[in-house]
Amino acid sequence: MAVGVKTYRNSIGGEWVGAASGETFESVNPATGEALGEFPSSGPAEVDRAVAAAKEAYRSWRLVPAPKRAEILYGFGRLLVERKQELAEVMTGEMGKVLPEAGGDVQEAIDMSFYMAGEGRRLFGQTTPSELPDKFCMSVRTPIGVAGIITPWNFPIAIPSWKIAAALISGNTVVFKPAKDTPLLGTLFVELLAEAGLPAGVVNLVHGSGGSVGERLVEHPDVPLLSFTGSREVGTRVAERAAPHLKHVHLELGGKNGIIVMDDADLDLAVEGIVWSAFGTSGQRCTAASRVIVHEQVYDALEKRLVAAVERLRLGNGLDPETDVGPVVNLAALEKIHSYTRIGLDEGARLLTGGEVASEGELARGCFYRPTLFGEVEGGMRIAQEEIFGPTTVLIRVRDFDEAIRVANGIEFGLSSSIFTQDVNRAFRAVRDLEAGITYVNAGTIGAEVHLPFGGTKATGNGHREAGQAALDFFTEWKSVYVDYSGRLQRAQIDNQ
Ligand code: UN1
Repeated sequence: MAVGVKTYRNSIGGEWVGAASGETFESVNPATGEALGEFPSSGPAEVDRAVAAAKEAYRSWRLVPAPKRAEILYGFGRLLVERKQELAEVMTGEMGKVLPEAGGDVQEAIDMSFYMAGEGRRLFGQTTPSELPDKFCMSVRTPIGVAGIITPWNFPIAIPSWKIAAALISGNTVVFKPAKDTPLLGTLFVELLAEAGLPAGVVNLVHGSGGSVGERLVEHPDVPLLSFTGSREVGTRVAERAAPHLKHVHLELGGKNGIIVMDDADLDLAVEGIVWSAFGTSGQRCTAASRVIVHEQVYDALEKRLVAAVERLRLGNGLDPETDVGPVVNLAALEKIHSYTRIGLDEGARLLTGGEVASEGELARGCFYRPTLFGEVEGGMRIAQEEIFGPTTVLIRVRDFDEAIRVANGIEFGLSSSIFTQDVNRAFRAVRDLEAGITYVNAGTIGAEVHLPFGGTKATGNGHREAGQAALDFFTEWKSVYVDYSGRLQRAQIDNQ
């Protein structure tokens, strides 16, 4: 145990409690190696207690009028506004992204909290005529119960807000397992909810690994809803384990997002969009641009400009305003990212820049990887197919628009996509034909806004979306209501003939 490191706890039924085992794990700053705190290594016993607390709290929370539930979310949003700077600094310290991006992460949670709070006075259903006289028909959204929320470290405030704000406004209660790399931010998130007046037990926090906390949550019979963002491998396992219980499962998995650059593109704009999308958050976004699909007419010019732009990026601690690219999250990530550089070289791709761990000066204390660009990549290579989740992107040369679309779609994932072109016809064809949940025209692959559906096609998910109105479809169940005020038995489909 590091000297002077603060010990944090789980939050169960409104109480801050340790894990029965007494074991802990540390959260570590990836830029400096410094320990930020110790957190309980919880197990099934803690999950069971948290679920029981959430189940108990559900009995009253589901009956709180949605506009009242919303008041708590408005309060939470206001607290996030007040603490934005402080939270952003903790975020840069805990997972490494540069300070302006960490502020953006908190801002996304502010936007989502206010957006979902607004739903407190909407949560619209339908009213519709009946086929029979003197009969009234409507549909209403109903809450479901306890939601198991399992979130990643790359958007440690934003992604919990997407899931938890939607769960709460809908009337569900929550057991929240934040990623092991960002437990401090998970803790602050729950502290702020309590400060905003959320009743005890409505959101419970359990720290620990996917193997012990996550699995129990996934299999717990009293958790009918699961929302998970993470890898394809783990997501598939979540779906398998949840299937015998017929749970509602929302999965947000990987991406291998492509930017198409056509021969008529504004190349300066394309370079900016590519650099921002590929190296923002050190490439650790599900939406990161990890492939650039370039028309042969502009391939050489784009490659040259991109190499120059990438070589200008400054690596460093994200708290330093001079830094463009922060560390990657931990040593395992650093090793995985570097292993893909070796794979790319073995596959015969041309390393244009980067491709190594950066360890000069202060960087030696942290997990830094040089922004990496591969050229002359074939669409089928592993570096063009598999999610690297780091500051690496690849250039693929294509002959025309049709080939660009084919290459863009030639992957198992379908999260984000983009095309740079001045031709409106091509732009709309791309919008139609790109197999992805998100398509940008003349912008990179990142930057989704909270009021639109977020999620992907193919192996990126299982058909659900989060954010926007779509999130409500996951976190509520429809009930159709028929009120017959005729005073006699009216048989649908029979008496209306
Ligand atoms: C993620 O990487 O999982 O569009 C979320 C974006 C952000 C959200 C990314 N608004 O890049």
